[in-house]
Amino acid sequence: MVESESRDERDSLESYLFKLQEELKALRSERAKLESHTFLLQKKYVELKREYDRLVQPPLMVGTVVDVLPNYQAVVKNSNGVTFLVNVLSSVYDSLRPGQQVALSQQTLAVVGILPEQKDERVRAFEIIERPNVTYKDIGGLEDVIQELREVVELPLKKPEVFKQMGIQPPKGVLLYGPPGTGKTLLAKAVAHETNATFIHVVGSELVRKFIGEGAKLVRDLFKLAREKAPSIIFIDEIDAIGAVRTEALTGGDREVQRTLVQLLAEMDGFRPLEGVAVIAATNRIDILDPALLRPGRFDRVIEVPLPDEKARYEILKVLTRNVKLSKSVDLRKIAKITAGASGADLKAIVTEAGMLAIRRGHRSITEKDIRDAMEKIKRTKVEKGPEHIYL
Ligand SMILES: Nc1ncnc2c1ncn2[C@@H]1O[C@H](COP(=O)(O)OP(=O)(O)OP(=O)(O)O)[C@@H](O)[C@H]1O
Ligand SMILES: [Mg+2]
Repeated sequence: MVESESRDERDSLESYLFKLQEELKALRSERAKLESHTFLLQKKYVELKREYDRLVQPPLMVGTVVDVLPNYQAVVKNSNGVTFLVNVLSSVYDSLRPGQQVALSQQTLAVVGILPEQKDERVRAFEIIERPNVTYKDIGGLEDVIQELREVVELPLKKPEVFKQMGIQPPKGVLLYGPPGTGKTLLAKAVAHETNATFIHVVGSELVRKFIGEGAKLVRDLFKLAREKAPSIIFIDEIDAIGAVRTEALTGGDREVQRTLVQLLAEMDGFRPLEGVAVIAATNRIDILDPALLRPGRFDRVIEVPLPDEKARYEILKVLTRNVKLSKSVDLRKIAKITAGASGADLKAIVTEAGMLAIRRGHRSITEKDIRDAMEKIKRTKVEKGPEHIYL
Protein backbone atom coordinates (compact mmCIF):
# COMPACT_ATOMS: atom_id res chain seq x y z
CA MET A 1 0.00 0.00 0.00
CA VAL A 2 2.66 2.38 1.13
CA GLU A 3 4.75 1.45 -1.83
CA SER A 4 2.03 2.27 -4.34
CA GLU A 5 1.37 5.60 -2.63
CA SER A 6 4.96 6.61 -2.82
CA ARG A 7 5.07 5.66 -6.50
CA ASP A 8 2.04 7.83 -7.19
CA GLU A 9 3.71 10.69 -5.43
CA ARG A 10 6.85 10.25 -7.46
CA ASP A 11 4.88 10.17 -10.69
CA SER A 12 3.10 13.38 -9.87
CA LEU A 13 6.37 14.98 -8.80
CA GLU A 14 7.92 13.91 -12.05
CA SER A 15 5.11 15.32 -14.11
CA TYR A 16 5.32 18.51 -12.08
CA LEU A 17 9.04 18.68 -12.77
CA PHE A 18 8.40 18.13 -16.46
CA LYS A 19 5.87 20.96 -16.46
CA LEU A 20 8.36 23.24 -14.75
CA GLN A 21 11.00 22.34 -17.28
CA GLU A 22 8.61 23.18 -20.09
CA GLU A 23 7.79 26.49 -18.50
CA LEU A 24 11.46 27.26 -18.06
CA LYS A 25 12.05 26.58 -21.72
CA ALA A 26 9.24 28.90 -22.69
CA LEU A 27 10.53 31.61 -20.36
CA ARG A 28 14.02 31.25 -21.74
CA SER A 29 12.84 31.72 -25.27
CA GLU A 30 10.77 34.68 -24.12
CA ARG A 31 13.86 36.13 -22.52
CA ALA A 32 15.88 35.69 -25.71
CA LYS A 33 13.15 37.48 -27.62
CA LEU A 34 13.09 40.34 -25.16
CA GLU A 35 16.85 40.57 -25.19
CA SER A 36 16.96 40.93 -28.93
CA HIS A 37 14.18 43.50 -28.73
CA THR A 38 16.17 45.45 -26.13
CA PHE A 39 19.18 45.33 -28.37
CA LEU A 40 17.15 46.77 -31.26
CA LEU A 41 15.73 49.49 -29.05
CA GLN A 42 19.19 50.36 -27.83
CA LYS A 43 20.40 50.66 -31.37
CA LYS A 44 17.46 52.84 -32.28
CA TYR A 45 18.16 54.96 -29.20
CA VAL A 46 21.76 55.56 -30.29
CA GLU A 47 20.61 56.51 -33.78
CA LEU A 48 18.01 58.91 -32.49
CA LYS A 49 20.47 60.38 -30.04
CA ARG A 50 22.91 61.00 -32.85
CA GLU A 51 20.19 62.57 -34.96
CA TYR A 52 19.13 64.71 -32.02
CA ASP A 53 22.69 65.85 -31.40
CA ARG A 54 23.02 66.71 -35.06
CA LEU A 55 19.83 68.71 -35.06
CA VAL A 56 20.62 70.72 -31.95
CA GLN A 57 24.10 71.62 -33.17
CA PRO A 58 24.59 75.28 -33.99
CA PRO A 59 24.29 75.86 -37.74
CA LEU A 60 27.43 75.88 -39.85
CA MET A 61 28.20 78.83 -42.05
CA VAL A 62 28.93 78.57 -45.75
CA GLY A 63 32.00 80.18 -47.24
CA THR A 64 34.26 79.99 -50.24
CA VAL A 65 37.91 79.00 -50.15
CA VAL A 66 40.14 81.79 -51.42
CA ASP A 67 43.47 80.13 -50.75
CA VAL A 68 44.81 77.02 -49.02
CA LEU A 69 47.79 77.72 -46.76
CA PRO A 70 50.29 75.40 -45.08
CA ASN A 71 49.73 74.14 -41.53
CA TYR A 72 46.05 73.39 -41.88
CA GLN A 73 45.06 76.94 -42.53
CA ALA A 74 43.08 78.59 -45.27
CA VAL A 75 41.76 81.94 -46.38
CA VAL A 76 37.99 81.86 -46.76
CA LYS A 77 35.37 84.38 -47.69
CA ASN A 78 31.95 84.33 -46.10
CA SER A 79 28.74 85.19 -47.90
CA ASN A 80 29.07 88.85 -46.90
CA GLY A 81 32.34 88.97 -48.78
CA VAL A 82 34.49 89.29 -45.64
CA THR A 83 37.78 87.40 -45.80
CA PHE A 84 39.12 85.38 -42.85
CA LEU A 85 42.22 83.37 -42.09
CA VAL A 86 40.93 80.18 -40.48
CA ASN A 87 41.97 76.71 -39.37
CA VAL A 88 41.01 73.63 -41.31
CA LEU A 89 39.92 70.27 -39.91
CA SER A 90 42.79 67.91 -40.70
CA SER A 91 40.54 65.33 -42.35
CA VAL A 92 39.32 67.95 -44.80
CA TYR A 93 42.60 69.75 -45.42
CA ASP A 94 43.98 67.50 -48.16
CA SER A 95 40.96 67.81 -50.43
CA LEU A 96 40.61 71.54 -49.98
CA ARG A 97 40.94 73.63 -53.14
CA PRO A 98 40.45 77.33 -53.84
CA GLY A 99 36.98 78.06 -55.17
CA GLN A 100 35.27 75.29 -53.23
CA GLN A 101 32.26 75.98 -51.08
CA VAL A 102 32.89 74.90 -47.51
CA ALA A 103 31.09 74.60 -44.17
CA LEU A 104 32.51 76.81 -41.43
CA SER A 105 32.03 76.37 -37.70
CA GLN A 106 30.12 79.35 -36.38
CA GLN A 107 32.31 80.13 -33.41
CA THR A 108 35.77 79.69 -34.89
CA LEU A 109 34.99 79.78 -38.61
CA ALA A 110 37.18 76.70 -38.92
CA VAL A 111 36.59 74.74 -42.12
CA VAL A 112 34.83 71.54 -41.07
CA GLY A 113 33.49 70.23 -44.37
CA ILE A 114 33.46 70.62 -48.13
CA LEU A 115 30.13 71.13 -49.82
CA PRO A 116 29.31 69.16 -52.95
CA GLU A 117 30.08 71.11 -56.07
CA GLN A 118 27.28 73.41 -57.09
CA LYS A 119 25.82 72.44 -60.37
CA ASP A 120 24.86 75.47 -62.32
CA GLU A 121 22.16 74.23 -64.62
CA ARG A 122 23.03 76.83 -67.16
CA VAL A 123 26.67 75.90 -67.28
CA ARG A 124 25.73 72.26 -67.83
CA ALA A 125 23.42 73.04 -70.70
CA PHE A 126 25.23 75.81 -72.49
CA GLU A 127 28.76 76.19 -73.64
CA ILE A 128 29.85 79.73 -72.99
CA ILE A 129 32.89 81.11 -74.74
CA GLU A 130 33.78 84.60 -73.64
CA ARG A 131 35.24 85.35 -77.04
CA PRO A 132 35.80 82.59 -79.59
CA ASN A 133 39.12 82.75 -81.40
CA VAL A 134 37.73 82.11 -84.87
CA THR A 135 38.00 85.05 -87.27
CA TYR A 136 36.57 85.69 -90.72
CA LYS A 137 40.02 84.90 -92.07
CA ASP A 138 39.61 81.32 -90.90
CA ILE A 139 36.62 80.86 -93.17
CA GLY A 140 37.08 80.20 -96.85
CA GLY A 141 34.71 80.79 -99.73
CA LEU A 142 31.76 82.26 -97.89
CA GLU A 143 32.28 85.97 -98.58
CA ASP A 144 28.65 86.65 -99.42
CA VAL A 145 27.40 84.91 -96.29
CA ILE A 146 29.93 86.77 -94.16
CA GLN A 147 28.91 90.05 -95.75
CA GLU A 148 25.27 89.42 -94.93
CA LEU A 149 26.01 88.31 -91.37
CA ARG A 150 28.04 91.46 -90.82
CA GLU A 151 25.10 93.58 -91.86
CA VAL A 152 22.40 91.80 -89.94
CA VAL A 153 24.24 90.65 -86.81
CA GLU A 154 27.51 92.48 -86.42
CA LEU A 155 26.37 96.00 -87.20
CA PRO A 156 23.38 96.01 -84.80
CA LEU A 157 25.60 94.68 -82.00
CA LYS A 158 28.40 97.12 -82.66
CA LYS A 159 26.49 100.22 -83.68
CA PRO A 160 22.92 100.05 -82.43
CA GLU A 161 22.65 103.85 -82.62
CA VAL A 162 22.78 103.73 -86.43
CA PHE A 163 19.61 101.70 -86.45
CA LYS A 164 17.96 103.78 -83.75
CA GLN A 165 18.64 106.96 -85.73
CA MET A 166 17.22 105.46 -88.84
CA GLY A 167 14.21 104.22 -86.90
CA ILE A 168 14.44 100.68 -88.18
CA GLN A 169 14.83 97.38 -86.41
CA PRO A 170 17.37 94.84 -87.52
CA PRO A 171 16.29 91.21 -87.64
CA LYS A 172 16.30 89.45 -84.29
CA GLY A 173 17.23 86.05 -85.49
CA VAL A 174 19.26 84.66 -88.33
CA LEU A 175 18.93 81.11 -89.51
CA LEU A 176 21.86 79.45 -91.25
CA TYR A 177 21.03 76.35 -93.17
CA GLY A 178 23.01 73.98 -95.29
CA PRO A 179 24.65 70.55 -95.41
CA PRO A 180 26.83 69.34 -92.51
CA GLY A 181 30.37 70.64 -92.26
CA THR A 182 29.94 73.74 -94.39
CA GLY A 183 31.04 76.21 -91.73
CA LYS A 184 27.85 77.28 -89.95
CA THR A 185 29.26 76.93 -86.46
CA LEU A 186 32.46 78.54 -87.64
CA LEU A 187 30.53 81.54 -88.97
CA ALA A 188 28.62 82.10 -85.75
CA LYS A 189 31.84 81.94 -83.75
CA ALA A 190 33.59 84.35 -86.09
CA VAL A 191 30.77 86.89 -85.75
CA ALA A 192 31.04 86.64 -81.96
CA HIS A 193 34.77 87.15 -82.17
CA GLU A 194 34.50 90.15 -84.47
CA THR A 195 31.89 91.80 -82.24
CA ASN A 196 33.67 90.98 -78.98
CA ALA A 197 30.53 89.18 -77.94
CA THR A 198 30.05 86.28 -75.57
CA PHE A 199 29.25 83.16 -77.54
CA ILE A 200 26.60 80.98 -75.94
CA HIS A 201 26.35 77.66 -77.71
CA VAL A 202 23.31 75.43 -77.22
CA VAL A 203 22.52 72.29 -79.11
CA GLY A 204 18.84 71.75 -79.76
CA SER A 205 18.95 67.98 -79.56
CA GLU A 206 20.79 68.07 -76.24
CA LEU A 207 18.34 70.55 -74.82
CA VAL A 208 15.47 68.15 -75.32
CA ARG A 209 17.27 64.82 -74.83
CA LYS A 210 19.64 65.46 -71.96
CA PHE A 211 17.54 67.83 -69.95
CA ILE A 212 14.18 66.16 -70.12
CA GLY A 213 11.48 68.27 -68.53
CA GLU A 214 13.79 71.25 -68.22
CA GLY A 215 13.86 72.38 -71.86
CA ALA A 216 11.48 75.32 -71.48
CA LYS A 217 13.17 76.52 -68.32
CA LEU A 218 16.58 76.28 -69.94
CA VAL A 219 15.42 78.40 -72.86
CA ARG A 220 14.26 81.04 -70.39
CA ASP A 221 17.60 80.86 -68.56
CA LEU A 222 19.42 81.05 -71.87
CA PHE A 223 17.97 84.43 -72.80
CA LYS A 224 18.43 85.72 -69.26
CA LEU A 225 22.07 84.70 -69.34
CA ALA A 226 22.53 86.30 -72.76
CA ARG A 227 21.20 89.62 -71.45
CA GLU A 228 23.50 89.44 -68.44
CA LYS A 229 26.48 88.78 -70.67
CA ALA A 230 25.58 91.23 -73.44
CA PRO A 231 26.82 91.83 -76.00
CA SER A 232 26.25 88.20 -76.72
CA ILE A 233 25.35 85.82 -79.47
CA ILE A 234 23.09 82.89 -78.75
CA PHE A 235 23.90 80.14 -81.18
CA ILE A 236 21.28 77.41 -81.35
CA ASP A 237 22.71 74.49 -83.28
CA GLU A 238 20.41 71.75 -84.61
CA ILE A 239 17.37 73.92 -84.10
CA ASP A 240 15.33 71.33 -86.00
CA ALA A 241 15.47 69.15 -82.88
CA ILE A 242 13.14 71.60 -81.14
CA GLY A 243 11.61 73.30 -84.14
CA ALA A 244 10.47 70.52 -86.44
CA VAL A 245 6.83 70.35 -87.45
CA ARG A 246 5.08 67.40 -85.89
CA THR A 247 2.21 66.03 -87.83
CA GLU A 248 1.52 62.79 -86.00
CA ALA A 249 -0.24 62.64 -82.64
CA LEU A 250 1.99 64.03 -79.93
CA THR A 251 3.76 61.63 -77.61
CA GLY A 252 4.92 62.68 -74.15
CA GLY A 253 8.38 63.44 -75.47
CA ASP A 254 6.95 65.49 -78.32
CA ARG A 255 4.91 67.54 -75.91
CA GLU A 256 8.07 68.32 -74.01
CA VAL A 257 9.76 69.42 -77.24
CA GLN A 258 6.68 71.48 -78.09
CA ARG A 259 6.88 73.28 -74.74
CA THR A 260 10.52 74.06 -75.38
CA LEU A 261 9.68 75.46 -78.81
CA VAL A 262 6.81 77.55 -77.45
CA GLN A 263 9.17 79.02 -74.89
CA LEU A 264 11.75 79.77 -77.56
CA LEU A 265 9.14 81.56 -79.68
CA ALA A 266 8.00 83.52 -76.64
CA GLU A 267 11.57 84.59 -75.85
CA MET A 268 12.17 85.60 -79.46
CA ASP A 269 8.99 87.69 -79.42
CA GLY A 270 9.80 89.10 -76.02
CA PHE A 271 13.26 90.49 -76.46
CA ARG A 272 13.85 93.83 -78.02
CA PRO A 273 16.37 94.05 -80.81
CA LEU A 274 19.36 96.28 -80.19
CA GLU A 275 19.73 95.33 -76.55
CA GLY A 276 22.97 93.58 -77.28
CA VAL A 277 21.70 90.06 -77.92
CA ALA A 278 21.68 88.38 -81.31
CA VAL A 279 20.33 84.94 -82.04
CA ILE A 280 21.79 82.72 -84.72
CA ALA A 281 20.40 79.26 -85.35
CA ALA A 282 21.66 76.53 -87.62
CA THR A 283 20.11 73.50 -89.22
CA ASN A 284 20.73 70.91 -91.89
CA ARG A 285 16.99 70.45 -92.34
CA ILE A 286 15.24 73.70 -93.12
CA ASP A 287 12.56 71.69 -94.91
CA ILE A 288 11.17 70.27 -91.66
CA LEU A 289 11.19 73.49 -89.63
CA ASP A 290 7.98 74.79 -88.12
CA PRO A 291 7.03 77.90 -90.14
CA ALA A 292 6.26 79.62 -86.83
CA LEU A 293 10.01 79.95 -86.34
CA LEU A 294 10.42 81.82 -89.60
CA ARG A 295 7.74 84.41 -89.00
CA PRO A 296 8.73 88.09 -88.77
CA GLY A 297 10.35 88.99 -85.48
CA ARG A 298 11.84 85.53 -85.14
CA PHE A 299 14.30 83.88 -87.49
CA ASP A 300 13.21 86.09 -90.32
CA ARG A 301 16.57 86.21 -92.03
CA VAL A 302 17.40 82.89 -93.63
CA ILE A 303 20.86 82.45 -95.09
CA GLU A 304 22.01 79.43 -97.04
CA VAL A 305 25.47 78.03 -96.37
CA PRO A 306 25.93 75.79 -99.38
CA LEU A 307 28.49 73.15 -100.20
CA PRO A 308 31.53 74.92 -101.62
CA ASP A 309 31.98 75.12 -105.37
CA GLU A 310 35.41 74.73 -106.93
CA LYS A 311 36.47 78.30 -106.26
CA ALA A 312 35.23 78.12 -102.66
CA ARG A 313 37.01 74.81 -102.15
CA TYR A 314 40.19 76.46 -103.30
CA GLU A 315 39.66 79.29 -100.82
CA ILE A 316 38.94 76.83 -98.01
CA LEU A 317 42.01 74.75 -98.86
CA LYS A 318 44.12 77.91 -98.75
CA VAL A 319 42.80 78.71 -95.27
CA LEU A 320 43.22 75.13 -94.04
CA THR A 321 46.81 74.83 -95.28
CA ARG A 322 47.92 78.25 -94.07
CA ASN A 323 50.13 76.71 -91.39
CA VAL A 324 50.63 73.35 -93.05
CA LYS A 325 53.83 72.28 -94.77
CA LEU A 326 52.97 71.57 -98.41
CA SER A 327 55.46 70.42 -101.06
CA LYS A 328 56.00 72.99 -103.77
CA SER A 329 54.54 70.60 -106.31
CA VAL A 330 51.11 70.61 -104.61
CA ASP A 331 48.64 72.63 -106.66
CA LEU A 332 45.64 73.55 -104.48
CA ARG A 333 43.64 74.57 -107.56
CA LYS A 334 43.95 71.04 -108.86
CA ILE A 335 42.93 69.60 -105.48
CA ALA A 336 39.92 71.92 -105.47
CA LYS A 337 38.96 70.62 -108.90
CA ILE A 338 39.04 66.96 -107.94
CA THR A 339 37.16 67.29 -104.64
CA ALA A 340 33.73 68.12 -106.04
CA GLY A 341 31.04 67.44 -103.45
CA ALA A 342 33.35 67.75 -100.49
CA SER A 343 32.36 70.05 -97.62
CA GLY A 344 34.73 72.27 -95.67
CA ALA A 345 34.82 69.64 -92.94
CA ASP A 346 35.71 66.98 -95.54
CA LEU A 347 38.55 69.13 -96.84
CA LYS A 348 39.76 69.60 -93.31
CA ALA A 349 39.70 65.84 -92.80
CA ILE A 350 41.65 65.31 -96.04
CA VAL A 351 44.34 67.82 -95.08
CA THR A 352 44.72 66.30 -91.62
CA GLU A 353 44.85 62.76 -92.99
CA ALA A 354 47.39 63.78 -95.65
CA GLY A 355 49.55 65.25 -92.91
CA MET A 356 49.34 62.00 -90.94
CA LEU A 357 50.33 60.01 -94.02
CA ALA A 358 53.26 62.35 -94.70
CA ILE A 359 54.50 61.86 -91.15
CA ARG A 360 54.11 58.10 -91.39
CA ARG A 361 55.96 58.08 -94.71
CA GLY A 362 58.77 60.22 -93.35
CA HIS A 363 58.10 63.15 -95.69
CA ARG A 364 59.23 66.60 -94.69
CA SER A 365 56.13 68.11 -96.29
CA ILE A 366 52.82 66.92 -97.71
CA THR A 367 52.98 65.71 -101.32
CA GLU A 368 50.19 65.47 -103.85
CA LYS A 369 50.25 61.69 -103.46
CA ASP A 370 49.66 62.05 -99.71
CA ILE A 371 46.62 64.19 -100.49
CA ARG A 372 45.24 61.81 -103.10
CA ASP A 373 45.66 58.82 -100.78
CA ALA A 374 44.04 60.78 -97.97
CA MET A 375 41.09 61.54 -100.27
CA GLU A 376 40.69 57.86 -101.02
CA LYS A 377 40.72 57.00 -97.35
CA ILE A 378 38.23 59.69 -96.37
CA LYS A 379 35.99 58.67 -99.23
CA ARG A 380 36.08 55.06 -98.09
CA THR A 381 35.09 55.89 -94.51
CA LYS A 382 32.27 58.06 -95.83
CA VAL A 383 30.96 55.22 -97.97
CA GLU A 384 30.94 53.02 -94.89
CA LYS A 385 28.97 55.63 -92.99
CA GLY A 386 26.16 55.69 -95.52
CA PRO A 387 25.01 57.22 -98.80
CA GLU A 388 24.50 60.73 -97.47
CA HIS A 389 28.21 60.97 -96.81
CA ILE A 390 29.35 60.05 -100.27
CA TYR A 391 30.95 62.62 -102.49
CA LEU A 392 33.53 62.69 -105.29
N1 LIG B 1 34.12 77.47 -95.15
C1 LIG B 1 35.05 76.91 -94.38
N2 LIG B 1 36.27 77.43 -94.26
C2 LIG B 1 37.21 76.85 -93.50
N3 LIG B 1 37.02 75.72 -92.79
C3 LIG B 1 35.83 75.14 -92.86
C4 LIG B 1 34.77 75.69 -93.66
N4 LIG B 1 33.70 74.91 -93.52
C5 LIG B 1 34.04 73.92 -92.68
N5 LIG B 1 35.32 74.04 -92.29
C6 LIG B 1 36.03 73.12 -91.40
O1 LIG B 1 35.14 72.12 -90.99
C7 LIG B 1 34.94 72.13 -89.59
C8 LIG B 1 33.48 71.94 -89.30
O2 LIG B 1 32.75 73.06 -89.70
P1 LIG B 1 31.48 73.58 -88.91
O3 LIG B 1 31.45 72.95 -87.58
O4 LIG B 1 31.45 75.05 -88.94
O5 LIG B 1 30.36 72.98 -89.81
P2 LIG B 1 28.81 73.10 -89.64
O6 LIG B 1 28.28 73.71 -90.88
O7 LIG B 1 28.50 73.75 -88.38
O8 LIG B 1 28.41 71.58 -89.64
P3 LIG B 1 27.18 70.85 -88.94
O9 LIG B 1 25.97 71.20 -89.76
O10 LIG B 1 27.54 69.43 -89.06
O11 LIG B 1 27.11 71.38 -87.54
C9 LIG B 1 35.45 73.48 -89.14
O12 LIG B 1 35.97 73.41 -87.85
C10 LIG B 1 36.52 73.78 -90.15
O13 LIG B 1 37.73 73.18 -89.79
MG1 LIG C 1 27.75 72.99 -86.60
